[in-house]
Amino acid sequence: MKRVSGGQGAEARLQQQATRFFAHTLLAASLATLTALTPAQPTTSAAPQTTPTVHNTMAQRMQACVMCHGQQGRATNTGYFPRIAGKPEGYLFHQLQNFRDGRRRNRAMSHLTQHLSDDYLRDIARYFAGLDLPYPPAQAHGLSPQQQRTAEQLVFQGAPERDIPACTACHGRSMAGRLPAMPGLLTLPADYLIGQLGAWRTGLRAATAPDCMADIAKRLTPEEISVVARWLSAQSLPTGTTPEAASTQPLPVDCGGGHR
Ligand code: HEC
Ligand code: HEC
Repeated sequence: MKRVSGGQGAEARLQQQATRFFAHTLLAASLATLTALTPAQPTTSAAPQTTPTVHNTMAQRMQACVMCHGQQGRATNTGYFPRIAGKPEGYLFHQLQNFRDGRRRNRAMSHLTQHLSDDYLRDIARYFAGLDLPYPPAQAHGLSPQQQRTAEQLVFQGAPERDIPACTACHGRSMAGRLPAMPGLLTLPADYLIGQLGAWRTGLRAATAPDCMADIAKRLTPEEISVVARWLSAQSLPTGTTPEAASTQPLPVDCGGGHR
């Protein structure tokens, strides 16, 4: 890119413009595919046998999601975009509703969902929940032995003295999620995980009440959030791992979103 004189301020502005341009282009492209998002209209008259098949499958309509969430929603463990493939249907459905109804904030996601009905959001959620795709391989977490202990303690034991249950108590013994609506957390990008826990702390993300994750996120220190996110992001899961079956045991703390 051509350098413009004017010192640091000008460079920062250029950087900002480039970021904004990138965001707009992505958004415009995804909105252009929105027409393709609308469910197929029922045909009013019987089409003659010779009509070529119109390819309007869910997979094709969901191409609007691929540029951010990766082919078939599989994403990777770097960057910011979360994997959506294979997460429980109930969880994905709640998140699409949350973006549409303002409990979660992201420009692209709000635009994409704002005119969609619950029925259609449910169809989208079911489609992505049904995809069984390989997870990215485990990677080095780069944590010190002390930080690794902190992360593993939180994940497997929690911090009972501060009313923080083990993450596994809700997210599943292997952290692959649990039906009907508990998400798996492994292989999500660390920046995404840190962003979500931070958003719960500041009120930018909310789940239906009682919002157990808001309470848990507020009890974690920023250092704990950083190490647990890096640990979770670096783990992998064998191909074919699906969320755990629903448990008959109550959750250690009541969660609005987790049950339905
Ligand atoms: C322009 C990029 C972009 C496009 C296109 C896009 N998303 Fe997203 N999506 C995001 C980002 C960024 C987030 C995380 C936002 C946040 O920080 O809360 C997200 C979050 C989500 C989540 C929540 C995931 C979780 O684990 O909580 C779901 C579900 C989702 N998107 C579904 C979709 C579907 C379905 C489509 C296509 C109809 C789509 N997205 C298209 C960028 C995009
Ligand atoms: C009492 C049950 C419970 C415990 C314990 C729990 N979680 Fe959660 N967590 C939930 C529920 C329910 C959701 C889904 C909330 C929603 O619908 O938005 C969730 C969602 C999340 C998400 C968002 C995932 C995404 O894809 O956006 C993160 C990150 C998370 N939890 C981290 C943790 C960590 C780290 C721990 C352990 C320190 C933990 N959770 C312990 C219930 C729990």
